[in-house]
Amino acid sequence: MDNRYSYLEKNLATFDQTMNDYGWIIYENAIDHPFIEVIKKSLQEAYVVRREIQIANGIGAAMNGTLHHLISRNCFSLEFLSRKYCENEIKHFLKGNYILNSLGAVINLKDEMPYVQNIHRDIRSFTGNFKLMIQMMVVLDDFTMENGATYFLSGSHKSDLKPEQQYFYESAERALVKKGSVVLFDSNLWHAAGKNNTNEQRRVLTMAFTRPFFKQQMDYPRLLGYDFGNELSEDLRQILGYNSRLPENLNEYYQPIQKRMYQPNQG
Ligand SMILES: [Fe+2]
Repeated sequence: MDNRYSYLEKNLATFDQTMNDYGWIIYENAIDHPFIEVIKKSLQEAYVVRREIQIANGIGAAMNGTLHHLISRNCFSLEFLSRKYCENEIKHFLKGNYILNSLGAVINLKDEMPYVQNIHRDIRSFTGNFKLMIQMMVVLDDFTMENGATYFLSGSHKSDLKPEQQYFYESAERALVKKGSVVLFDSNLWHAAGKNNTNEQRRVLTMAFTRPFFKQQMDYPRLLGYDFGNELSEDLRQILGYNSRLPENLNEYYQPIQKRMYQPNQG
């Protein structure tokens, strides 16, 4: 058995089996290349904005090459999210409606050692068979052994124990994945970015989706504005968290059901 499929041929049976056995799954040819170029271009500008803040706040070394919260009114991310890649798989995994927890990117550069190269999992609390969160990577440059293809320790999503470094690097598989692929993985899976030994960038979008009651890494409805939500499709309102907001006062709390900050179908 392998964990690599064509995006067009994906189905829930192989998804279930692969996520159970490996904890990660590759869907090739998911994103068209013109859209990937749009994303790459906007990463350059977004990085400049974020880098300035990272350095000003004294966390430049650990954060080098990482971009967080690529959500704004005219960002590619709204178009990306409205395309609902792997919606069926995510809904199935999280057993219902889901929201975006975070959307960022990594620009893996030569000789840099950002925190994503540590062995880690993307959810702090181990949740075992109760699935709260799922990760998505969108591959923007071919991943190779030389440019730092991600290490995934297949099957390690079933254990709370952090693997020993030597065992991890001897046993983990490398995600040798082509540009335009989507990788989904169980947030409990132990993994690490590789080191880039080439002069080229290795870029990837990284996302987490959760059940709607899990706190977002940033309050996207407030970042974008509650009014802006009225201009969005129902799908985007759902994914960005407009249906699972937190009231901040009694007036926001005491509302008829259809106007409530936290809607009934959000788990
Ligand atoms: Fe990670």
